[in-house]
Amino acid sequence: MTHGNLLTDNPELYEARFPDAERLAGRWAEDCLRRHGAGPRVLDMGCGTGRDAAHLHDAGRTVTGADLSEAMLAHAGQRHPGPTYVRADLHGFDLGRAAFDAVVCLDSSLLYCHTNAQLDGFLTSCRQALAPGGLLVAEMRNGAYFLGRSDLLDTPTVNAFTWQGTAHRSTTTLTVDRTAQLLRRTRVWTSDDGTTPVEQRSAWRLLFPLELRHVLTTHGFEVLELHDGPGPRTEPLWREGQLPRLSTDADRLHVVARLTSAR
Ligand SMILES: C[S@@+](CC[C@H](N)C(=O)[O-])C[C@H]1O[C@@H](n2cnc3c(N)ncnc32)[C@H](O)[C@@H]1O
Repeated sequence: MTHGNLLTDNPELYEARFPDAERLAGRWAEDCLRRHGAGPRVLDMGCGTGRDAAHLHDAGRTVTGADLSEAMLAHAGQRHPGPTYVRADLHGFDLGRAAFDAVVCLDSSLLYCHTNAQLDGFLTSCRQALAPGGLLVAEMRNGAYFLGRSDLLDTPTVNAFTWQGTAHRSTTTLTVDRTAQLLRRTRVWTSDDGTTPVEQRSAWRLLFPLELRHVLTTHGFEVLELHDGPGPRTEPLWREGQLPRLSTDADRLHVVARLTSAR
């Protein structure tokens, strides 16, 4: 295979493998923005395919979608027009001071901040990008969920699918790096087109609810909501009108925070 990451190198495949036909993630984000009275200017950091950014645009917002992947940005511009798409690194970005009323960061994009310095860089950038009273809305894996859940780790799981006439197979193993506080994923791709198997490694920060609350507070945010669902990737799924629980026990973490002191 010539690709390093079959899914993010092929945004069409990404959308096919992780469908969100009902635009639940975008709808959930819009619901958070509306409930907390956010202004119209939204930055979607780690926008990926652009489907959530486009939903927010269709809901009447002025949206900028930002991502590091050129492939994702090209796909977003073609398939999900409306927002402005720009290349930016969530570890540190400058898209204008007080240029946004909200930053959204969906599907664990925030957890690409692996180190404390990267997390500080992200929140410092958000603080500069947001107007006073601006919101941060994020949805991600819950690090706390992995405490005592060794059944999820160290055992390979296999997934097979056919895309554009080629049968692909991925073998995925999750491990916890306790020192770095990272969930590491090793995925080996094989396919029936005779190409050499490729090993792809990814990692997400294991961020704990109280740690997230603390770092947000330190960066001048007031935490309005911090909970494990219902949300766009919970079981059962979030439905319009449902309010958040108070617990942070299940596998997804959702946060809404307001910037109370600008820099
Ligand atoms: C799980 S995907 C987001 C999915 C998106 N919400 C969707 O549904 O299409 C995570 C995204 O974060 C992006 N990403 C990873 N590291 C990044 C960084 N340092 N800065 C900006 N984007 C990054 C990836 O390119 C990818 O598009």
